[in-house]
Amino acid sequence: MTKLSRKDVLRSDQFSKDEIDLIMETARAYEKALDAGEVLEDMRGKILSTLFYEPSTRTRLSFEAAMQRLGGQVISVAEAKSSSAAKGESLHDTIRTVDGYADVIVLRHPQIGAAAEAAAATDKPVLNAGDGAGQHPTQALLDLYTILKEQGKVEGLTIALAGDLKNGRTVHSLALLLANYDVRFLFVAPQALHMPQAIVDQVKAQGVEVQQTEDLGEAVRQADVLYMTRIQRERFEDPSEYDQLKDAYILTRAMLAEAKPGLSIMHPLPRVNEIATDVDEFAGAAYFRQAANGIPIRMALLMLAHNAA
Ligand code: NCD
Repeated sequence: MTKLSRKDVLRSDQFSKDEIDLIMETARAYEKALDAGEVLEDMRGKILSTLFYEPSTRTRLSFEAAMQRLGGQVISVAEAKSSSAAKGESLHDTIRTVDGYADVIVLRHPQIGAAAEAAAATDKPVLNAGDGAGQHPTQALLDLYTILKEQGKVEGLTIALAGDLKNGRTVHSLALLLANYDVRFLFVAPQALHMPQAIVDQVKAQGVEVQQTEDLGEAVRQADVLYMTRIQRERFEDPSEYDQLKDAYILTRAMLAEAKPGLSIMHPLPRVNEIATDVDEFAGAAYFRQAANGIPIRMALLMLAHNAA
């Protein structure tokens, strides 16, 4: 397989296993080329537009760096909320406009389904960089890439996803992506922030074993990969509910005394307080390496989306 079957990247469960392999292989090749100091021109003459209606550091900067590493150029609206949307323009009209300016569009938006809506308004590839509490498929792909690099495999691993599993789009996409493999899941969340039942049902239907717990200690003892997440403050209607839950899980260095040898600790970042900073020196603390993996994965996705069948 050399091409993706569709140009848009909207959800992590849109990909076949062959397509996931293609993305991983392409990213590996790009990482190797960058490490060798190669200057690439695969997207020379092409323009990426990034439209971000929610805050971002890593996702936007790594998409933009990825496009520039490919020899392409970038036009960017970092605070899309304060551009035409502030004047009342619909997402549809903004995308129709950007269609005339760019060859690829990366969108982050607070509404679930916004990326799909954008994709319907243009023939250019649309890459979902987060649609509210929905999905974040490009993050899930860089997370898988990170697991493969850190652990050398994904098959057979026990993977714990911990924190705000209800509102966290990264864990939604990651659970659905990893369900393509023979993994075991531990979903670790307070009662009020459980993984949506539809996602639990979907991964179970793919034959993946799921255990749900509120106990982070259990995850530390059992997991090969512990994926921590931020409690998603911006998704709470009631600030007092956020205050009650914001300290639900704090991973400390002392807790790692009970960890399985070889544990990898991941986090999509930004971190608030859910991983104590003394964990950063732990050999398996992979979150900053994980962030760096956004470059080769997003290079692969830009290139493959642009060249899709
Ligand atoms: C995540 C996001 O935006 O969903 N950040 C990211 O893209 N790396 C996670 C978060 O904001 O908690």
